[in-house]
Amino acid sequence: MKKKITIIGAGNVGATAAHWALTRNLGDIVLLDVMEGIPQGKALDLWQSGPLDSYAGTVTGTNDYADSANSDVVIITAGLARKPGMSRDDLLAKNVAIVKSCAEEAVKHSPDCFMIVVTNPIDAMVHTAFKVTGLDKSRIIGMAGVLDSARYRTFLAEALGVAPADVNALVMGIHGDKMLPMVRLANVGGVPITELLPEEKIAEIVERTQQGGIEIVNHLKTGSAFYTPGLAAVEMAEVVLKDSKRVLPCAAYLEGEFGISGYFLGVPVVLGDKGVERILEFALTEEEKAALQESVNAVSRQMEATGL
Ligand code: LAC
Repeated sequence: MKKKITIIGAGNVGATAAHWALTRNLGDIVLLDVMEGIPQGKALDLWQSGPLDSYAGTVTGTNDYADSANSDVVIITAGLARKPGMSRDDLLAKNVAIVKSCAEEAVKHSPDCFMIVVTNPIDAMVHTAFKVTGLDKSRIIGMAGVLDSARYRTFLAEALGVAPADVNALVMGIHGDKMLPMVRLANVGGVPITELLPEEKIAEIVERTQQGGIEIVNHLKTGSAFYTPGLAAVEMAEVVLKDSKRVLPCAAYLEGEFGISGYFLGVPVVLGDKGVERILEFALTEEEKAALQESVNAVSRQMEATGL
């Protein structure tokens, strides 16, 4: 049976995700926004690309949650985006209210959906949606590790002069400055990057990854990245819809894994049709543990600010 994917928020990230989802043939796409006309116009535009880029799904633009009923996957992108000088935390208060209402409405119409939260600050927003919907922890995750790891892999591939697809690298922790691009585990075709690149170059790439979002905000000035964030969310949706059991870094709800409890944080997750099927836990070095704790502290401050 054809799958149904609802994308809430028809801004840059949402519309781009709709485009990727359509061209990857994930199923029927519903693009939903509170702004009258925006999702309808963008959906119509996407639909008319059909003859030029064949795909099987339909695309509907709407302001009505009833149109999202019985979605298999709901992706929440609605919210304000960053401008230069803003941290992801600056968005918190406004986006908490937006995410709460989107998540509640979505689940009313799609109680069995798998939910992917993209709105920033992601780790706190996915926790907000988790609390207000009552979804099981296996049915809800935050996008960020896939995006941050894609940036890390891109920069490593450039430095090594290799295809980005052959770079395996994991970014753990918060989607923020304290994120943890794992150095000792990163490899290209199985060969550790620490054997191939000088320490200073790796440190430079780690720093650029941590600042990857703001680098783009500073260029754009009016908003934040959307092509790769949109694709990252669609990649996660695809793995769940196709039950492909791929291992992707996602913000998942932790109950003791890596010594952390009661927070969503980026960790390697096995995704399949049951959602978060497993978290791949492994021993961290003392240095990595301390760095991950900084992520926990930052997310905990964000959660306090949500008042939930
Ligand atoms: C970024 C935004 C989406 O990292 O947080 O580009």
